[in-house]
Amino acid sequence: MEQYLIHGGNSLVGEVEIGGAKNAALPILAASIMTDETVHIDNVPDVRDTNVLMDAMGNVGIIIKKENRHRVTINAANISSTVVCDDNIKKIRASYYLIGAMLGKYKHAEVTLPGGCDIGCRAIDQHIKGFRALGAEVVLEHGMIKTRADHLTGSHIYMDVVSVGATINVMLAASMAEGKTIIENAAKEPHVVDAANFLNSMGANIKGAGTDVIRIRGVQKLHGSDYTIVPDQIEAGTFMLAAAATKGDITVRNVIPKHLESITAKLIETGCEVMESGDQVRVVCSRNLRHTHIKTLPYPGFPTDMQPQITVVLGLSEGTSIVTESIFENRFKYVDELVRMGANIKVEGNTAIIDGVKKYTGAGIAAPDLRAGAALVLAALSAEGESIVDNIRYIQRGYEDFDIKLRSLGADIKVVDRDNDYRDFKLMTG
Ligand code: UD1
Repeated sequence: MEQYLIHGGNSLVGEVEIGGAKNAALPILAASIMTDETVHIDNVPDVRDTNVLMDAMGNVGIIIKKENRHRVTINAANISSTVVCDDNIKKIRASYYLIGAMLGKYKHAEVTLPGGCDIGCRAIDQHIKGFRALGAEVVLEHGMIKTRADHLTGSHIYMDVVSVGATINVMLAASMAEGKTIIENAAKEPHVVDAANFLNSMGANIKGAGTDVIRIRGVQKLHGSDYTIVPDQIEAGTFMLAAAATKGDITVRNVIPKHLESITAKLIETGCEVMESGDQVRVVCSRNLRHTHIKTLPYPGFPTDMQPQITVVLGLSEGTSIVTESIFENRFKYVDELVRMGANIKVEGNTAIIDGVKKYTGAGIAAPDLRAGAALVLAALSAEGESIVDNIRYIQRGYEDFDIKLRSLGADIKVVDRDNDYRDFKLMTG
């Protein structure tokens, strides 16, 4: 099992190219099956989640060709089944987008219930409520979600919670329902907008994505498209915070600065300099960091997917910071690992109370999930001495070439194999 071996203490300096957004790529890949025509998608990140989804799509006869590392061509004309029970698919949350896409196009879908990161209860009741409102029957049995409709009819749907997944999933199905659907209390994240833009590029009629109310007029047929996925807001944010954690100077390139505003605002509060120009943002951290408070919220609030990374930075900031997690109830599991590195953090319910320390010290730590894994890497990069980060397969779900990009910025990080190098490391460090 692979791990990262990190020798901390280097300030990260340089430029890094940000890839396509994983959380936009996943629904867009699923949506591409909603036409019999060929779809080209560019800027698809080469990460485990997108590859698992494409493998599962390939297993039901959908033709997927990689034109290059980030550009794929998809043709679903000869799909052989609307039942997806791939063993791997339950490992990714986004498998549920196949339900909305298949239900919209084929009026039938059976998909293994999603898994994903262990960050708390991840209900899908709002997805189900939306599908039922469109006239579908939905049952959960034998670990599968099964849905069928004679035909789908547009509806007025009020989401009880702001959910990225439910908003996109209902949007997918409603794109090919008869008549008009209104989704109220919709999620406004950039990937919701990107999924809507992609569907519109295929001939869907979706208005209002990026606001609380999305209006969809169903169409009978969607057509081929050539589309480029937006840059990954969370990958960009992670590198911005890497600059803060390591007192570095990093320019993230190929980003949409507007999508990064909540992160930029908080970095400025901690005393970093943030400079935007065109499609790049530079973060310079040359003085001691100051405390601040964070509450995760749906977009445009501070993203829950950046909560572990900002906590790592606040753990190194003077004074007491409070981080409140309001989206997922179990997203502080990584704090125990940070404490082992010398952080002074207490978790009470959905709040972390952080008393900044001057430095972390290297340790053997394990990534509990994707974003927390990335955050622990940032902690290790800033720490004195060596760290081993275990379970990096979680990180590889969502960050392409994470170690390579970090190395290009001056990080001392390499991938090692537990059976060989880890043993040597343990011998060396006692
Ligand atoms: C998506 C992202 C994930 C990100 C999250 C929040 C993907 C594949 N995943 O996850 O990386 O952390 O958005 O930005 O794009 N909820 C319900 N009922 C539902 C759906 C959600 O109660 O039917 C609740 C959840 O338990 C959670 C909150 O709503 O408390 C937000 O969930 P949601 O936005 O749906 O997150 P995901 O789509 O799972």
